[in-house]
Amino acid sequence: MRKPFLAGNWKMYKTGTEAVEFIKAFVPLLGSLSDREAALGVPFTAIAQAAEAAQGTGILIGSQNIYFEKEGAFTGEISAGMVKAAGASFVILGHSERRQFFGDTDLWVSKKLAAAVAMDLIPVVCVGETLAQREAGDAFKVISGQLKNSLAGLTPDAAVKLIIAYEPVWAIGTGKTASAAEAQEVHEHIRKELSSLLGDKVAEATRILYGGSVKPDNVASLLSQKDIDGALVGGAALKPDSFAQIVKFGG
Ligand code: PGA
Repeated sequence: MRKPFLAGNWKMYKTGTEAVEFIKAFVPLLGSLSDREAALGVPFTAIAQAAEAAQGTGILIGSQNIYFEKEGAFTGEISAGMVKAAGASFVILGHSERRQFFGDTDLWVSKKLAAAVAMDLIPVVCVGETLAQREAGDAFKVISGQLKNSLAGLTPDAAVKLIIAYEPVWAIGTGKTASAAEAQEVHEHIRKELSSLLGDKVAEATRILYGGSVKPDNVASLLSQKDIDGALVGGAALKPDSFAQIVKFGG
């Protein structure tokens, strides 16, 4: 059984103090987390305070990026070991905004993935097609390429904690969600690709999240699909009540 993983992606929102306020308001709204996991991908500068505030709640705190080197003369960069030491237990890799605005490539994602695995961080690797790619009928092809190249070098043993997030670029922050059926079709394709890249066992165990305008009112129908195992949530994860409703989907 794949335990649903509901993760917020705060992007460039919230200071450490604001993160603590969020968690204080959020925790009492949550039910039991025994059958699901709740996670928050926060800015680097909020990791330590968020991790402290989340201690004992079961909520996982993570970062939204890392650099792949361990340390060195890389001005402005942050390593996997640094986010781990600050309290992160997962990391979002290859988000489309990183690919679009900061030049992250599949090759870089694969290197960052290796660094995350070496530090025992749960990697959440994002893939997804643009509207033009979808309209050209290339969605599956694009996603297959992203998976193959982003996961290059990953062994089945190292993939035990791997999480994939399918985020159609045209659905991020736009209010346009893929229908549950449209998303399921891609998730099924992703699981098939995982099976050929890493074997059936990894493919069956890997959680595949959907992201792109997930809201309290569409989460249950998305998560009812066979291959949709969670959500990566941007805008709707910035408010404790809406993210709590998302985490409690179906309850
Ligand atoms: P959104 O963002 O929920 O605001 O569409 C999702 C994401 O970018 O991870």
